[in-house]
Amino acid sequence: MGNTYYIETYGCQMNVSDSELVSNQLEKIGYISSNKIENADLIFLNTCSIREKAEETVHNRLDSLHYLKKNNPKLIIGVIGCMAQNLKNDLLESKPYVDVILGPDSYRNIPKIISNRENVMNHIVDTRLSKYEVYDDMFPSRREGVNAWVSIMRGCDKFCTFCIVPFTRGRERSRSINSIIKEVKHAVSDGFVEITLLGQNVNSYLTPDGDFVTLIEEVAKVDGVKRVRYTSPHPQDITESLLIAMRKYDNICNYIHLPLQSGSNRILKNMNRTYTREQYLDLVKMIRYYMPDCSISTDIIVGFPGETEDEFNDTLDLVKKVKFDFSYTFKFSSRPGTKASQYTNQIDENIRQNRLERLITIQNKIRLEVNKARIGSIQKVLIEKESKKSDLFWSGRTEGNIWTIVKKGDEKLKDIIDVVINDAQGITLFGENLNNKGKIS
Ligand code: SAH
Ligand code: SF4
Ligand code: F3S
Repeated sequence: MGNTYYIETYGCQMNVSDSELVSNQLEKIGYISSNKIENADLIFLNTCSIREKAEETVHNRLDSLHYLKKNNPKLIIGVIGCMAQNLKNDLLESKPYVDVILGPDSYRNIPKIISNRENVMNHIVDTRLSKYEVYDDMFPSRREGVNAWVSIMRGCDKFCTFCIVPFTRGRERSRSINSIIKEVKHAVSDGFVEITLLGQNVNSYLTPDGDFVTLIEEVAKVDGVKRVRYTSPHPQDITESLLIAMRKYDNICNYIHLPLQSGSNRILKNMNRTYTREQYLDLVKMIRYYMPDCSISTDIIVGFPGETEDEFNDTLDLVKKVKFDFSYTFKFSSRPGTKASQYTNQIDENIRQNRLERLITIQNKIRLEVNKARIGSIQKVLIEKESKKSDLFWSGRTEGNIWTIVKKGDEKLKDIIDVVINDAQGITLFGENLNNKGKIS
């Protein structure tokens, strides 16, 4: 029997995508994926540092995995990704049973590192960040499914004052259009019909051969690509020409995740977000001008240092004005090394919790309202799987990323169908295939 590996992934889609690259690197040296962590000869935790809680989860997980080494002394435990980058000294000291620590730019060396590690039992640490590494020539091992994540750029140069990413992932760099298109074609031939372009700042993408608009159009033109999505863009880099391209290509989803962070100009400035609430609102207006049915989701942080009740209310006000389809809401978490962690006016945990709850209540109400307004409309749904609740129904997503339950007819998995929406509950829509409507089943 060959050696087996198990990767547990925390954090954002970039990490999901990186885990697929790392899987491929391990498979190159004969490792086989294991379904159970207990049976694996190599365990990698691909980690996240974005908030304190994300790091705590990994610390606890490592403590609970420690015992596996008793049964399998040859077991290799590795910490890779953003925490490795950020906390290597801490990890080496507090968790001596961790054998391998690799930052996000060190995955190219995995075959060499792991082959050596099998012979010499020492710690291996490589957390150097690169200005150039984009893994242009390395391809991922993907599981089956509908959507393929494709990393197009790495790192971030925006330095929002609350954010650890520019430190854990280093400088911004973009992968060549050729290599991306090659990967997209490969994914399509493996049966993936949706492509999601990924980057910490996906629309800052820039190469000598073109910018993000050039790239997304090239991807949309690849035969067999039924849907193109991208995440996460920065509001500052959303251009009119991107919106025009989104409108022009039917297969680019009318959906934008547009992280807001705060609705107060003073807080936005202290966050170094580079736009004002007025500019953000103008951007929303421009998006809806080009694509009236475009779904918009967002990220919001409450309790940023110094945020007053009035400033928090500015955020609530903006949320009500925009009517986001969805929002990911977070309490500010102080990240050592960032500028905001040095601000002296940190907000009390109770206040942060209370603001988060108020924001969630309002956003949930808006989300249901926005979903209910879709009753009677026709949405394009990509059939992704059988519904968990019943095998008489399909589950798929609208262009706006909303899960929709549809009664089964003669459509197949991975088909895009026109669905008449007849109900909305919580975060889910319900409907019928327009082509089956009226047919006797
Ligand atoms: N590059 C993306 C976001 C990556 S992190 C962008 O700019 O939109 C995802 C989200 O986590 C951020 O949008 C932000 O809302 C949240 N986040 C980042 N750092 C945080 C912190 N220190 N505390 C709380 N939330 C944070
Ligand atoms: Fe972090 Fe800001 Fe970069 Fe997003 S744009 S990854 S929030 S620094
Ligand atoms: Fe986390 Fe790193 Fe992503 S800190 S959110 S895994 S870029």
